[in-house]
Amino acid sequence: MPGVDTGHILVVEALRRSFGGVHAVDGISFEVQRGRITGLIGPNGAGKSTVLGMLAGAVQPDSGSIRVEGKELAGRPAYERARHGVGRTFQMAGEFPRLTVLENLLVGMPNQRGERLLSALLGNWTRQEEAAVEKARSLLRRFDMTAKEDDYAGELSGGQKRLLEIMRALMSDPHLLLLDEPMVGVAPTLVGAIEEYLRELCDHGLTILIVEHELGVVERLCDTVMVMARGALISQGTMRDIQSSREVADAYLIG
Ligand SMILES: Nc1ncnc2c1ncn2[C@@H]1O[C@H](COP(=O)(O)OP(=O)(O)OP(=O)(O)O)[C@@H](O)[C@H]1O
Ligand SMILES: [Mg+2]
Repeated sequence: MPGVDTGHILVVEALRRSFGGVHAVDGISFEVQRGRITGLIGPNGAGKSTVLGMLAGAVQPDSGSIRVEGKELAGRPAYERARHGVGRTFQMAGEFPRLTVLENLLVGMPNQRGERLLSALLGNWTRQEEAAVEKARSLLRRFDMTAKEDDYAGELSGGQKRLLEIMRALMSDPHLLLLDEPMVGVAPTLVGAIEEYLRELCDHGLTILIVEHELGVVERLCDTVMVMARGALISQGTMRDIQSSREVADAYLIG
C-alpha cells in the first residue's frame, strides 16, 4: 500500500506551530517505531507538549504532516483520533473529580454519549457497556485500584490520578499511546509498577511515545530517545548516545 511503512506506526514531517511570535514547534520530522517505547525529552518550553497536542489533534498544526498507519491526520479533529488508534494522557491530570473512578473510565470509551452513560449508570446496561465495565474492572485490578472503584476521582492521590489517566486512555484500545509526563507526582513504588505495565503493553503490540522529565524512567523504558530544544529536534538515539551529545548538554544548560 502506498504511504504505509510497516516499521513505523507514526511518520511526522515538517510539523510546525507558532503561538504569536513563538515558534513552539519549528518544522520537525521524525518516525516512531511500531511496538516500541520512544521517549521525547528536552528542557522546559522545548515544544514537547505542543508536538503531543498536534499528534492528538488538540492543537492544530500551521503546516506539516502527521501520518498514523499511513493515514494523514494533520488538521483532523481530536475526536477522530480514537478511531485511528491514537490515545493520549495530558500533562495536567484531567480526571472528572465528581465522577467515581469507574465512571471516569467509562467516559474514556470512544463514541460514549452522555445520555447512554447516564442510562448505563442507572443500571440499563447494553452488552457493549457490560464489556466496557468488565474491561475497566480488569484495568483496576491490574493497577491494584479495585478498592477505589466507587471513590470520587477528585479524592485520589496525585499518583492515583495519573494512573487513572493512563487507564482511561487504555479503555479505547489504542495502537499508539501518547503520554505527557505520566510519572509526575507518582510515588516511586508506583512508578516501577507503571513502567512494568507499559513494557507489558508494548510486548502485546502497543506503541508508546512518552514525554518525561525523569530521565531514569526514560533510560529504563525507551529504546530510542528524541531530544527537542527551542522547537527543533536536536538529537536522537539511545539514552547512551544522547548523554554523550554536546548539543544536548548545552540545550539542558542553556534551555
Ligand atoms: N497555548 C499556547 N499559547 C501560547 N503559547 C504557548 C501555548 N502552548 C505552548 N506555548 C509556548 O510554546 C512553547 C513550547 O511549549 P510546550 O508546552 O510545547 O513545551 P514543553 O516542552 O512541553 O515544556 P514543559 O517541559 O515545560 O512541559 C513555550 O514557549 C510555550 O510558552
Ligand atoms: Mg510539556
